Parts: sequence; structure tokens; C-alpha cells
Amino acid sequence: MHMTDLIEKKKRGLVLTEEEIRFIIDRYTAGEIPDYQMSAMLMAILFRGMTMPETTALTMAMAHSGDMVDLSALGEHTADKHSTGGVGDKTSLVLCPMVAACGAKMAKMSGRGLGHTGGTIDKLESFPGFSVSMSPERFLEIADTVGFVIAGQTANLAPADKKMYALRDVTATVDSIPLIVGSIMSKKLASGAKTIVLDVKTGSGAFMETERDAFTLAQEMVNVGKEAGRNMAAVVTDMDQPLGFAVGNALEVKEAIDVLSGADVPDLMELCMVLGSNILVRSGLADGDEEARARLKDAVESGAALRKLADMVEAQGGDSAAVYDPSLLPAAPVQRSVKAPRSGYITAMAAKEIGLVSMHLGGGRSTKEDVIDLSVGVVLRAKVGARLAEGDELAVIHAPDEAAALRAEEELLACYTFADEPAYRPPFIRGVVT
Ligand code: URA
Repeated sequence: MHMTDLIEKKKRGLVLTEEEIRFIIDRYTAGEIPDYQMSAMLMAILFRGMTMPETTALTMAMAHSGDMVDLSALGEHTADKHSTGGVGDKTSLVLCPMVAACGAKMAKMSGRGLGHTGGTIDKLESFPGFSVSMSPERFLEIADTVGFVIAGQTANLAPADKKMYALRDVTATVDSIPLIVGSIMSKKLASGAKTIVLDVKTGSGAFMETERDAFTLAQEMVNVGKEAGRNMAAVVTDMDQPLGFAVGNALEVKEAIDVLSGADVPDLMELCMVLGSNILVRSGLADGDEEARARLKDAVESGAALRKLADMVEAQGGDSAAVYDPSLLPAAPVQRSVKAPRSGYITAMAAKEIGLVSMHLGGGRSTKEDVIDLSVGVVLRAKVGARLAEGDELAVIHAPDEAAALRAEEELLACYTFADEPAYRPPFIRGVVT
């Protein structure tokens, strides 16, 4: 088999066989196919697309390029969740303790933030002493005893994706649905959970800006997961404005703690309910949506979910006192109140740009090596649909100094659109694909 023939085949829009796809992935991971040939193949896939069997074969080959984590010792109720990334997305910090309190075992590997989106393991490092690396044995032990564990991704999990993602990033081949499916689902399948729920974001702050592409991506990921014998569900949700109110690492941890303590953050809680219900029902822990939601609600109201968060922080070496007293989390020295510049309704908020405000304050990275400031960010006081009078508080900026706060205020005000009449707002949950 020759890579040039396979590039030619895909360039002409023909279908690659499973054997050919395995050849490409195995040889590329082993360093036997050079980046320039793989780049040509990736671009051919981007333009010509892949059939569902091709996408499945691609994902399987990528998943099997490294370790396949064995979670069988944790029993039948292992679960994992993935979000395609957004602004203010602290869902895992709320969802994992909720489902763990209901009997699920979440053994999660998460990423760090890059660009305008945040990463769960950065956020968790807001707890003093918290560690995201541990031995495989300890990882399983925490998942088993606490019900959830969140670690950084191990080096040998889907190494094909690591190489391919770096190449896609510099060859303008990120935005291909089969390549995104292969990238996300290879890591999820290799992570070993029996039940996988996906949160596919759509809108200005998301990878998939159109709802149609988001549903296609959701459906293809569900299909591939089912082919691999996993219980699957994908929820397509709005990312036209940030999720919840807080944007920034420690600020999002605080919001997650607040929600687990009963605070009302409607979009975040609804998302946790939909994802949580799918985890409980699909993994056999609840008989239907109604029972699942009742159990999840009870997990919050009884304080069991908050205790799970504290147990997990403690098990991973962190100081869990901050779970019960969030004033112990990193706090920025300057807090600046931003006022509404006019009366009227908020009709739009540029999610990605709000993520960038937090990033420019020091809360995000432009390169993988950047060190981030966990304390900074923005807490929104009002979201799309709210009616404000001129001078009402719009948001609070948490900054390292006054000059940064002023710059952030100017950037933040440019993210809002106001009008005299409210605008049509599509539902937050656009649909569930099973
Ligand atoms: N997230 C991933 O892990 N991979 C992609 O290709 C896109 C988003």
C-alpha cells in the first residue's frame, strides 16, 4: 500500500477501506508517513468528506493508536462527558458530583484551556494543592471510592490524535466533521467509559457556528460510539452567550459550588439535568427521565453532590475547605462594576469575545506554555433577554490592576447589543440525539 495512492483516491472522492485507514493512522503514528503526506490527506478528507463507515474506521484506528483504558473493575455504571468547548462552561464541575452522588462512576480525563475557551483541569487547580496527575491505580481508586475523578490526559491516550491535531492546527484542517469526530471520539473511546454523553455547542462562541453542523457532528459521534458498543447521547446546546454567569477559572469554580449549594443558574442547571438524566438512564441507574431528574435534584438539595465535590478535591490532594468557603479560592485584587450604557433589552452577547476579555485579563492562554491567572475574569449580572435601565450593573470585572480592569471594561461593553424591544431567543437546549 502506498500513501500517494491513498491520497489520490481520497482526492478523487473515493471511499477508503478500513484496512487503508488503519494503514494511514498506524504508519503516521509510528512516524513512517511524513507530515507533508498526512497534510495532503487531511485536506483531501476536509474537501471530500468521509462516509459513516470511513469515519468509524478512522476513529477506531485513532483510539487504538495508544492505551485503551480498562474501567471494567469499576462495574457497569462508568460514564464520561465531553463538551466541544465554550465560554463559561463549568458543567463538569457540577454534573460529575451530581451523578456520582447517584451511583455513576465518572473517570474523566480533561484538557486545559486554549484561546477563548476554558479547561476543566485549569479551573480545578483553583483549589490549593489540587493535583491532576496520578498513577493509573490511584485514578481508578478515586473513581471507585468517590464516584468521580478528573485527571489530565495521559501521554499515550490516542497519540494519533495528538499528532494529527497539531498538524490540523497549522494546515487549516480543523473544521472537518469526520476529523473532529475522529479526534473527540478516539479519546472518549480510549478512556473506557461504557456510557458517554456529549455536549455539542452551537453559536458564536462554539466550534460549530451553525445548528445544522452541530447536529451532524452530534449524530456522527453518537453513531460511532454505538458502533463501538457504548451507550450514547449528545445534546446540542446554545453557545451564543456564555453558560451561566461566571467566566474565568476560580470564578467558575465558585459558581459551580454555588449551584451545588442551591443557587439558581437556569441554563447551567438545565444542562446538568439533561446530561445527568441521560447518564443515569443510559447506564441503567434510573428507569426514566422523571426518576433520574428527581434523583439529581435530591443529590443537590440533600448536599450529597457538594460533599462529593469536597471528597474528590480532597482525594486529589486539594484543600476542600474552599468547597464550603469559596472566599478561600484565588481572588483578584481589583473588582470593577460595569454599568449599562443605555436603557433597553440585551439582544445579543458575543460569547467568544467575552471569553477573550477573560483571556486578556490573564485568565487564558494564547500558547500552551502561558501561565494563567486563576483569579481573573468576568461575572455577568444580566444575560440576553434582560431589561436594564441606564446605569444598572451589567457585569463585574475581576482584574489584576486598575489599568487592566479599564481595558477589559471597554472590551466587554463592545460585546453587548442593546435594543428597545426584546429579540427572539431560540431555546437553550436545541435537541438531544440518541
Ligand atoms: N476538540 C477536539 O478534541 N478535537 C477537535 O478536532 C475539535 C475539538
